[in-house]
Amino acid sequence: MNFELSEEHKMIRDAARDFAQAELLPGVIDRDETQTFPHEQIKKMGELGFLGMMVSPEYGGGGMDTISYVLAMEEISKVDASASVVMSVNNSLVCWGIEKFGNEAQKQKYLTKLATGEIIGAFCLSEPEAGSDATSQSTTAIDKGDHYLVNGTKNWITNGNNASVYIVITQTDLEKGHRGINALIIEKGAEGFVVGKKENKMGIRGSDTHSLMFTDVKVPKENRIGEDGFGFKFAMQTLSGGRIGIASQALGIASGALELALQYSKERKSFGKPICEHQAIAFKLADMATEIEAARLLCLRAAWQKDSGIDFTESGAMAKLFSAERAMHITTEAVQIHGGYGFVKEYHVERLMRDAKITQIYEGTSEIQKIVISRSILR
Ligand code: CAA
Repeated sequence: MNFELSEEHKMIRDAARDFAQAELLPGVIDRDETQTFPHEQIKKMGELGFLGMMVSPEYGGGGMDTISYVLAMEEISKVDASASVVMSVNNSLVCWGIEKFGNEAQKQKYLTKLATGEIIGAFCLSEPEAGSDATSQSTTAIDKGDHYLVNGTKNWITNGNNASVYIVITQTDLEKGHRGINALIIEKGAEGFVVGKKENKMGIRGSDTHSLMFTDVKVPKENRIGEDGFGFKFAMQTLSGGRIGIASQALGIASGALELALQYSKERKSFGKPICEHQAIAFKLADMATEIEAARLLCLRAAWQKDSGIDFTESGAMAKLFSAERAMHITTEAVQIHGGYGFVKEYHVERLMRDAKITQIYEGTSEIQKIVISRSILR
């Protein structure tokens, strides 16, 4: 067993770190405050290959492994989790889903543009009453021969307004339960498809999260991903990979908070010495560093399993559960170490704490991860 990263992996990590420091850090507080989508930064991320990292070069992607993706996600998320959620959804849910399960025509039409960041995508599963209970889809796609007629509402959709391509999970045949669900590719601008209100969120405020409304939207059959009824399994398998991305996002948010806490605790003095020399602070830093290292190992193991063709459902859920829970704890501790400064925006840690919260919720809450893990270990 070798825990050393390859030179190539180190280069990718360092490139992501340099990009985050140079391009994402300036303005990140303002974008959070004003809920401004990082258009310019996302465009550059596309040009640098961060939006289609694992896509085959044949379709314009970087042809990289999932380990590279985890390393880059960590570095980007340390600085700007609003940018990294765009990266995560585009890479893991949209590009991976289409490359793995889409047909050649769908890849030709959509994947190259998505992988290069010319356009970005969205993954639309959650509904007002179907977030965790993903089989209870009430968005319908009625079979009309050569097309589906789609009606319904999706909620909390990341990239809701800025995406051009939407993978929409729909129910075609209620009697068949989860085997009656289909994943359809719907383009922005389709007649009857309206982007609804933007959510005013606690965290990842630079990303755009919207509800989407579909009224008698005609979707050609050729836009269905996989066989009729494959939509639920498509969603579950795609989300399993997505969880590695969000686990890495949580890891990055946590390690960003630790870096800030280390720096601050060396500079800030109380009772005649830097606060890091007080055991109350040093022990917190030790716990934070240990938890981050454990989270990183879980993320890398899940990525390695995915790259090795091993079932990564359990390891991805473990990585997400642990990283998200620890990110919430670690960012809270980082605010505590900063004292009053931690409570104001200039010091970044309060944003990281707000951003950490969503990692316990999206792509399956922590409770959902426990369902996935317990079913796996009890099987
Ligand atoms: N891979 C392949 N197949 C899978 C699977 C997986 N990971 N998980 C389940 N399945 C299959 C099962 O084998 C089963 O198939 P058969 O009937 O043929 O045997 C079928 O799917 C149904 O599985 P379950 O009975 O386990 O389904 P369930 O209703 O009990 O649900 C669940 C399981 C894990 C709770 C699932 O509903 C789930 O993951 N829910 C959370 C959904 C989620 O993550 N929502 C977040 C929205 S997306 C998002 O947040 C994106 C964003 O914007 C950032």
